[in-house]
Amino acid sequence: MLSSPLLALALAVGSAWAATAPTFAPPAPAYNQQSPNYIGKNNNTITNGPLVSGRSFDRFINIWLENTDYATAASSSVFQSLIAQGVLMDNFYGVTHPSEPNYIAVAGGDFFGDASDNFRHIPSNISTIVDLLEAKNISWSSYQENMPYAGYTPYNYTQANYLTPGSNYTYYVRKHNPLIIYDSVANVTERALRIRNFNDFAADLNASAISQWTFITPNLVNDGHDTDINFMSAWLTYFLVPLLNNTAFNDGRTLILLTFDENETYTINNQVFTLALGGSIPAALRGTTDHTFYTHYSTLSTVQANWALGSLGRQDTNKTLNNVFTWVAEAAGWTNNGLTGNTSIPLMNATATIPGPLNPVLYVPFTAPNTSAVGAGGGPVFIASGLNTAFTAASAPAPINLTAQGQSDVPWAVDPGFDYPTGNKTFAAPATSSTAPGGTSAAVGGLRVGVESVVVLVGVVVGAVMLL
Ligand SMILES: *[C@@H]1O[C@H](CO)[C@@H](O)[C@H](O)[C@H]1NC(C)=O
Ligand SMILES: *[C@@H]1O[C@H](CO)[C@@H](O)[C@H](O)[C@H]1NC(C)=O
Ligand SMILES: *[C@@H]1O[C@H](CO)[C@@H](O)[C@H](O)[C@H]1NC(C)=O
Ligand SMILES: *[C@@H]1O[C@H](CO)[C@@H](O)[C@H](O)[C@H]1NC(C)=O
Ligand SMILES: *[C@@H]1O[C@H](CO)[C@@H](O)[C@H](O)[C@H]1NC(C)=O
Ligand SMILES: *[C@@H]1O[C@H](CO)[C@@H](O)[C@H](O)[C@H]1NC(C)=O
Ligand SMILES: *[C@@H]1O[C@H](CO)[C@@H](O)[C@H](O)[C@H]1NC(C)=O
Ligand SMILES: *[C@@H]1O[C@H](CO)[C@@H](O)[C@H](O)[C@H]1NC(C)=O
Ligand SMILES: *[C@@H]1O[C@H](CO)[C@@H](O)[C@H](O)[C@H]1NC(C)=O
Ligand SMILES: *[C@@H]1O[C@H](CO)[C@@H](O)[C@H](O)[C@H]1NC(C)=O
Ligand SMILES: *[C@@H]1O[C@H](CO)[C@@H](O)[C@H](O)[C@H]1NC(C)=O
Ligand SMILES: *[C@@H]1O[C@H](CO)[C@@H](O)[C@H](O)[C@H]1NC(C)=O
Repeated sequence: MLSSPLLALALAVGSAWAATAPTFAPPAPAYNQQSPNYIGKNNNTITNGPLVSGRSFDRFINIWLENTDYATAASSSVFQSLIAQGVLMDNFYGVTHPSEPNYIAVAGGDFFGDASDNFRHIPSNISTIVDLLEAKNISWSSYQENMPYAGYTPYNYTQANYLTPGSNYTYYVRKHNPLIIYDSVANVTERALRIRNFNDFAADLNASAISQWTFITPNLVNDGHDTDINFMSAWLTYFLVPLLNNTAFNDGRTLILLTFDENETYTINNQVFTLALGGSIPAALRGTTDHTFYTHYSTLSTVQANWALGSLGRQDTNKTLNNVFTWVAEAAGWTNNGLTGNTSIPLMNATATIPGPLNPVLYVPFTAPNTSAVGAGGGPVFIASGLNTAFTAASAPAPINLTAQGQSDVPWAVDPGFDYPTGNKTFAAPATSSTAPGGTSAAVGGLRVGVESVVVLVGVVVGAVMLL
């Protein structure tokens, strides 16, 4: 998220960050045990329907890390031993900057112009991978480390610091929780409660109840965001390495994608270190390197191809960006576009220049997807309830600059107010309301325009200086 000089400066000026990265300590006695360091004790085991067989795998597990150079990851002995067991994808790309839009993209097939880490929510007429999975009765879940309770919607969560007792620490952030940002998930109780914490993970794992699609977000120290390669490697050794031998997690039909949200340096293309792991990978491919051009949209198209799903009709169906993992493409009879590291790859580092409903300086309302697109699964484009299919990118008004009109952010920065503190939905009514561009009535009273911290402000100032 910050390039090294920015990071160095942020550390030098002093901030919430410690002067040196803390040493890893396990947050729980073991990866499969509950811990008081995770606030909400597990209340139940997740319920999944019957297994739905895929063409190449029956379970897909996403694990997203943060802020580590490709070469740094490749130089770690822990990553090296993982590389030997999987497929190294050396042309895998994030889709923009900073973090949040990449997480939004991997769930909904677009980042809707977002170029911030601010509070965002996306209206319920916008579909996600969850709609596609549920249409085929494929179970799904997400595990967010240090989220205090299932379905938690606020911007972050600060709790007792388990690494440095006597202080507090923000381990959980909403911007790394892709599905909670979508109202079609977060405003539907049965769906929101499938976004769980790591005490739930331990319980679900021990009950052999890990869903068929799952998204795992480690906390801000374990994912490397606030720490370094040694810390992240120690976490992988504690958490992922033993899980690879646990058949409740990884069996002969599991695919695990270990990747990073974005590159650190905005001025180069957005390459991220990525490893495919798991028992479903053909034995002959283990320990090999795949040079195919992949993006976070490939994560959607690979799942679509595997289960012959429908599509979202967004960038998940863009043939330039949606190459399917080679062995899955083969199993599904899908032909990739031929882009590899030796060919000209599109630039994936554009930031703040893409118009969309989450871009305050180039604002357009949420438009319908391309309803006649065909993705790698071959099924229909999912039409969410409340979607005006006639309101397309072609019929949308020209982008407007909300900042120039004195608005501090997009209407979707306003917290819609629902949450699940007791396992049932609650509403916190916003104080006032106004009419947002696009004719939507939106509340403005409870504006949660989060700023990541002092560090981001420093980054902005230095970034501006660097441009001079
Ligand atoms: C960003 O991309 C460059 C060029 O491919 C690479 O050297 C660097 O390690 C990457 N950084 C991250 C965080 O992956
Ligand atoms: C999903 O499950 C429901 C309820 O059991 C069933 O009615 C429906 O036909 C199933 N759909 C698919 C695509 O299997
Ligand atoms: C279990 O339920 C209680 C309240 O009923 C809640 O405080 C706690 O956070 C829940 N645990 C999880 C992991 O959601
Ligand atoms: C940590 O947060 C709690 C709850 O907000 C607060 O009562 C406590 O004073 C904080 N502790 C420190 C060391 O800041
Ligand atoms: C959330 O769902 C409720 C119905 O349960 C609905 O009244 C409300 O408008 C929805 N809010 C948003 C922001 O979609
Ligand atoms: C996992 O299993 C392999 C052999 O199947 C073994 O070599 C390795 O030590 C095991 N790792 C752990 C962490 O149990
Ligand atoms: C994106 O990266 C390319 C080089 O790979 C660079 O020329 C371009 O300026 C970068 N774009 C931005 C917005 O930094
Ligand atoms: C598909 O992706 C390419 C590369 O980013 C982009 O230039 C093109 O506009 C995209 N197509 C659509 C329909 O969005
Ligand atoms: C989706 O819903 C939002 C909020 O109601 C609205 O602003 C937007 O125009 C809708 N877009 C489509 C394509 O239905
Ligand atoms: C939007 O307006 C702001 C404030 O007037 C200005 O600084 C910015 O350059 C404008 N951006 C675009 C893309 O027009
Ligand atoms: C949630 O609501 C249902 C029905 O409205 C009720 O039966 C249940 O007890 C409630 N659960 C909690 C934890 O409040
Ligand atoms: C957490 O959220 C609060 C409220 O939005 C904000 O003031 C604070 O800066 C956030 N902290 C972090 C570390 O994200």
